[in-house]
Formats: sequence, C-alpha cells, structure tokens
Amino acid sequence: MKRIFNIAGPCIPGEHYLLPTLARCPEIGRLVESKQYFVIHAARQSGKTTLLNALADDLEKAGKHYALYCSLETVQGIGDPKEGIPAIIRAIQSNLRWHPALKKMVVPAIDMSDYNTGLKSFLADLCAASARPLVVLFDEADCLSDQTLITFLRQLRDGYVNRVRTPFPTSVALVGMRNIRDYKAKIRGETETLGSASPFNVITEALTLTNFTRTEIAALYGQHTQDTGQVFEAAAVDRADYWTCGQPWLVNAVARECVEKILNRDFSKPVTAVLIDRAAETILRRRDTHIDSLLARLTEDRVRRVMEPVILGKQVSLDYLSDDRLYCLDLGLLKEVKGALVPSNPLYAEVILRTLSYGAQMEMQMMIPETPWVKDDHLDMNGLLKAFQQFWRENSEPFTTKVINYPEAAPHLMLQGFLQRVINGGGQIIREFALGSMRLDLLAIYKSGRYPIEIKLNYQMKSIAPHKQLLDYMDRTATTEGWLVVFDRTPGKAWDEKIRWETAELGSWTVHTVWC
Ligand SMILES: Nc1ncnc2c1ncn2[C@@H]1O[C@H](COP(=O)(O)OP(=O)(O)O)[C@@H](O)[C@H]1O
Ligand SMILES: [Mg+2]
Repeated sequence: MKRIFNIAGPCIPGEHYLLPTLARCPEIGRLVESKQYFVIHAARQSGKTTLLNALADDLEKAGKHYALYCSLETVQGIGDPKEGIPAIIRAIQSNLRWHPALKKMVVPAIDMSDYNTGLKSFLADLCAASARPLVVLFDEADCLSDQTLITFLRQLRDGYVNRVRTPFPTSVALVGMRNIRDYKAKIRGETETLGSASPFNVITEALTLTNFTRTEIAALYGQHTQDTGQVFEAAAVDRADYWTCGQPWLVNAVARECVEKILNRDFSKPVTAVLIDRAAETILRRRDTHIDSLLARLTEDRVRRVMEPVILGKQVSLDYLSDDRLYCLDLGLLKEVKGALVPSNPLYAEVILRTLSYGAQMEMQMMIPETPWVKDDHLDMNGLLKAFQQFWRENSEPFTTKVINYPEAAPHLMLQGFLQRVINGGGQIIREFALGSMRLDLLAIYKSGRYPIEIKLNYQMKSIAPHKQLLDYMDRTATTEGWLVVFDRTPGKAWDEKIRWETAELGSWTVHTVWC
C-alpha cells in the first residue's frame, strides 16, 4: 500500500508519511527512565497523539514497561468529581480491554462511589497485578476541569509520594494544549481548594513539541518522492515553509492538496511553488475542520482581547503571564516574535483576517454589486479607495456596531473586506503584520499590477510622520505608487473634515494619503 500525507488524526507508521516521532521530544525517554510525572503541551494538530502512540509502542517493544494510553476527552465538562472520577476510571478501563498483556490481569472491582480515593486504588491494584512497571499516558488531559481536575491530581500525587510502599504508575504523562500552570487557571477559587500541598508539584517537567524546520519539511516531502518518484521542487518546499512555518498539520495539508487534488496523483509532474500557493489558497477557502475549529475561538472574548490589538499591529500590553495571552499561544493561534504577538503562520494570519472581515465582505457584496475599478489588466486603486472613503462615511456606524464584532479593528477589517470583495477571484491580497508598530501593510496584486497599502489608525490627529514606513514597504515590494490609508477616529469630528486625499511626489515615487 502506498503511503499518504495524513490530515485526519494521528499518523500511523507505514500508512502515512511520518517524521521520526520520538526524536521530536527526546527528553521523554530520560523522564520515563527516571520515573517522573511530566506534562507535554502543544497546540492543536501538532502531533501529540502521534507521539504518545509512538512512545507506547517503543516502551512496549523495549520490554521493560507496560504503557497505557488513555484519552480523557470523554470527561470534558464533568467538573463534579462524583461523576468525573468514575468517568476517568471507565476511560482507563476501556483502554485496558485492548492492551495485550494488561487485559488479562485481574483487578479487584472498584467502589465507584468513593471518588476521593477510587482512582488511586484502581491504579494501585492495576500496578500490583502488572508484571512490569506501568507508564500511563493521559491524552487530552486539559479536558479535566474544576473539582474533577483537583481530585484527579490529588490522587495522582498521593499515589506518587507513597510509591515506595504502594504500587503505583512509575511514570505519568499529562498531555494537552495547556501547560500545567494553566490548569490552575481552570480551577475556580483556586486558593481555598488547593491548600498547601499542591497536587501540581509532582509534575517535574513540561515539554513541548516544536514545529517542523524547513529541513524536516523537505525530509517529509522526500519520503513521498522516495515512494513515488514525484519531486517537490526546492522552491515548493520554501513556499510550504513560508505558509505553514512548519505547523505539522498544515505541512501535510498543502502537500496532500498538491499531490492528490491538483495533480490528481499524476506523479510524473513536479510539485512547484505555484502549486503550493494554490493549495494554500484552497485550504483557506475550504476551511478544513482544523482551521474551522481554530476560527471558532475568534468569537471567545479572551481571544478577542488579544487578537484585536494584534490585527491592529499594536504592541499587546498584556501582562506576560496573562491567561488570555497564554491561552492564545497554547491554542497555537499566535506566536511570539521579538516580544510581540503575531499569528503563528501566514496561513492562519490570512484565514483570521478573512474570517473576521467575511461578514463585512458579504454585506458589501449586496451593497456594491458592480466593481467598476477592476479594469482588464489593472485596478483603478485611486477610484477604488475614493469609493471606499464614501462607503466608510456612509456605513462605518452600522458595520462597526453590528457586522464586525472587533470594534477597534473594524476599519482595518472593513477595508480588507472591501478590497477582497473587489478583487475576489482575480487577484490576491498579501498581508504583513508589522510587529508592534500600529500598522498593517497590504499588497494587493491584480494581474500584473501591484498595489502597496499601509493602514493606520489615528486617534488624536497626531501628525502623520513622513511616509517612511510606506516607502520602505514600496521598496521591498518593488513598487513606485503607494497608498497610506489613515482612519481618523477623533471623536465628534465632522466627516467633511475627516475625508481628504493628498498626493505627494517623492522623487520617482508617488504616495497618496487617504484620510477616512
Ligand atoms: N511525526 C509526524 N510527522 C509528520 N506529520 C505529523 C507527525 N505527527 C503529526 N503530524 C501531522 O499532524 C496531524 C495531527 O497529529 P496528531 O497526533 O493527531 O496531533 P494532536 O494530537 O496534537 O492534535 C497529523 O494528521 C499529521 O498531519
Ligand atoms: Mg490528539
């Protein structure tokens, strides 16, 4: 059977192209060997379950331990330990049934009503019956919440500290998106409930999984070349690296799109950079489940609080350890670059902005049925932005309050929705998040035309510094005409004063300042 690029759940060796999994987290071996309890946390779809499967196999093969994988997904939302702890025990039992050696072991029946010690007794009995030390790998551990989480950790802690006398798992991994310190944030009224002997302090280390490097992406794609002869050109690997920044699921998804869909498994054709760009665009539009579940988070208040300043290119002034900030980092939506938060990769950036401006774009589709600024081979960008000034004047109120639920970022999102609406299908918008500089750079591309636009918000009518940033951007994009769109949000100012247009010739460059 031919291997494939996997985009649905954990990878299976032999069926899927796969980078050496355990090498992604080499410390685990040492932690198990030294009988530690530890956390592995990483974003969605980054290979956690694949890693646990590989670890379990590896431990079993080595013959020193038994390894039990157990997902706690079914305990999601059960904060009351009366139900939560029995649910955890049932989750373990259902996995035991399929373990070749452990399933045969006779474990005394457990009193499910004793939720304060039931889990501990169950694990102790299991370990007493087991011929080898037991390693338990709890996947989706961040599904646990409130008292269930505390009771679960208390029993693990209790078992851990008494291991000299009472049998208990030699090593336990808690695996999920969140780091252990963030589990504490999930517990209401933490101080009263945790007491002094914190159940967290048996966790010795928190490991994470990093994204694939360009070399690793090339190696993964190389497996396909080896199996089929189909080549990924070096420039294609560069583009995949650019779009995905090595996010494991995305790396597989763009390759799969090229191989299976665009080239329809015709392995004689090479995968080129152009095809990778096309694949990225398709994935964006199709909003695969992974992308969709990520986007669902954009409506959460705690995500909005962090995301809105990011869209605006503002320095996020959140406290370094704020829960909101950590949450967005743990989800894998954002990453930190030189102290500033930015979307984790250009594909997410694109999909975040498109999703947030989508409502506006749909509304606009009905309001502006014709788009006369699209010419045969170019865009009439001056005409387009003049029309946008008028549209903003007439509609900013309803759009800002009703259509877009990111009020501060509404001007940015509306302009992007407008551009997207106009050039949809025929062109492309490339967005660059400018780190902490209060601006967003866009390059609209239509046929042979390239149109650099810088968007800024201006609250106090501060004078706009000379066009240095835009000129830099024009230099980088090799363009000679550029637009600086400044949203004047001074309260109470009349529209006639706000809406203006200035054009400056600076040497061979033309720069328009579009006041909205
Ligand atoms: N070792 C690996 N090599 C290549 N791709 C991987 C690897 N591990 C994971 N992936 C990719 O990541 C996706 C998600 O893997 P999974 O283990 O289910 O992640 P998680 O449990 O973190 O959500 C897979 O469908 C695959 O595309
Ligand atoms: Mg998983």
